[in-house]
Amino acid sequence: MSERPTERVPIAILISGRGSNMVSLVTAAQEGRLSADVRVVLSNRPDAPGLARASDLGIPTAVLDHRAFATREAFDAALADELERRGVRFVALAGFLRVLTPVFLRRFAGRVLNIHPALLPSFPGVHAQRQALEYGARVTGCTVHFVDEGVDTGPIVAQAAVRVRDDDTEETLAARILEQEHRLYPLALQAVLTGRARVVGRRVVGVEGPGDPPGPDAG
Ligand code: GAR
Repeated sequence: MSERPTERVPIAILISGRGSNMVSLVTAAQEGRLSADVRVVLSNRPDAPGLARASDLGIPTAVLDHRAFATREAFDAALADELERRGVRFVALAGFLRVLTPVFLRRFAGRVLNIHPALLPSFPGVHAQRQALEYGARVTGCTVHFVDEGVDTGPIVAQAAVRVRDDDTEETLAARILEQEHRLYPLALQAVLTGRARVVGRRVVGVEGPGDPPGPDAG
């Protein structure tokens, strides 16, 4: 696919909580670093603090409470309907703590990215920072990847590494990883939305270059 730098892709950002990655994506779009038109920030939790942050940034918000649906599939069908109704063409998960089923993913095939606070395939699932500490990893980080039908298993777009310090707690480690998340996600999403990043089998190519993340931070 050739690069389409000026076209703004209509996207949705899905959250469940605080929404700091959402803010970094919205800010990048508003500053012209991300070729995205953020149509909606949607949460599955009505009390997600990120909803107010999105409103403050002038972005429409929506709530689809998963507890109102009898099955995951029913929730996912309603979610896909809602996003299609708003003209959304691409979806960025940003702390959206629900596994999406094929009912959703088949309708947005190859058009969903996620950010995970570990260097996948290490430490998938929940509490990734705690898993890295408990395992004794000396380097961890974050990963932006396409979402497929597994848990944190899709092709990797970009990764940034963070050293683990002797005195790290789950909180201090999470905070340093989060800094890298905020930097990495807009870069990775931009590479995908412009067509620069391409999936070739399990690999994503075309992301190398000036926006490529550096090695482990200085610690
Ligand atoms: C982020 O650290 C994100 O990587 C993580 O949740 C946090 C959300 O923070 N996601 C996962 O663990 C997904 N398995 P935020 O709401 O401030 O962006």
